[in-house]
Amino acid sequence: MPDASAAPIVDPGLFRLDGRTALVVGSGSGIGEAIAVGLATFGARVTCADSRLDAATVTAEAINASAAATGADVPPAEALGLDLLEPEDPARVLAITGAPDVLVTTPSINVRKRIVDYTDDELDRVVDLNIKGLFRLCRTFGRAMAEAGGGSMIGFSSVRSQTTEPGQGAYAATKAATVMLFKTLAAELGPSGVRANVIAPGVVETPLTKPITDDPAWYQAYADKAILGRWAVPSELVGAAVFLASDASSYVTGTTLFVDGGWTAADGRYSPNV
Ligand SMILES: NC(=O)c1ccc[n+]([C@@H]2O[C@H](COP(=O)([O-])OP(=O)(O)OC[C@H]3O[C@@H](n4cnc5c(N)ncnc54)[C@H](O)[C@@H]3O)[C@@H](O)[C@H]2O)c1
Repeated sequence: MPDASAAPIVDPGLFRLDGRTALVVGSGSGIGEAIAVGLATFGARVTCADSRLDAATVTAEAINASAAATGADVPPAEALGLDLLEPEDPARVLAITGAPDVLVTTPSINVRKRIVDYTDDELDRVVDLNIKGLFRLCRTFGRAMAEAGGGSMIGFSSVRSQTTEPGQGAYAATKAATVMLFKTLAAELGPSGVRANVIAPGVVETPLTKPITDDPAWYQAYADKAILGRWAVPSELVGAAVFLASDASSYVTGTTLFVDGGWTAADGRYSPNV
């Protein structure tokens, strides 16, 4: 008879975030909004940050209203303005929040144009937010989280870090750069107890992708590209974020978690008749 007492013990609260603090930058919309709600649902005290304070406030109020309506034991959420294009904003917000246990950051933009047609101004807009704003945020909060003794940093890449198409040059380059930024954060801050990972979505119905969802042919082509044959909705990114934020991922750092419906697993849009 096997010795049942020797079986590994799995904590059923492995994914819980009770007693943890989380700062979600980009929580005014789309994926960030869903993740702010998700982290709060799993017990984190969430600060919703966004360059649009009104939108972040709506998310925080939704978390608090939902907790009040259901009687769930969810710590009250708060909202703060944070503009990643303002170099001093990360430090200003850090002075208010202190080092969080979890940092999630989603803001990015995409200007879809062929490389040969790109203007310097368009390139600056994409790089200023997707790289420079992200870098400064991670520098400030990475330092603080390391000094505090640990935490989980979660960034957002994309399938465009791996596969591209005409018109994605600048965006794809920034999404590949995001992977390397977080791998380097993992390498530099791991000894201080900070883990750093990225989530790479496929296509998700949010305001960022509205130009595509408004175009039926483009929308369907992207649905067909995913093995699952459809787009994601923002709530389908929550599980990955809760995993990376919680002790369930205690040995996971420097990695990229694809939540892409199989987009990067299979090539082409053609199924041979075999
Ligand atoms: N939606 C998709 O299909 C998809 C696919 C792959 C990757 N992603 C990635 O996921 C992340 C989130 O995308 P989304 O679709 O939720 O985007 P979104 O545009 O819906 O939300 C982005 C949020 O960031 C905020 N923001 C914009 N500029 C800011 C700034 N300077 N400072 C602070 N906040 C700012 C916006 O106000 C908005 O609330 C992005 O990094 C994107 O590249 C999205």
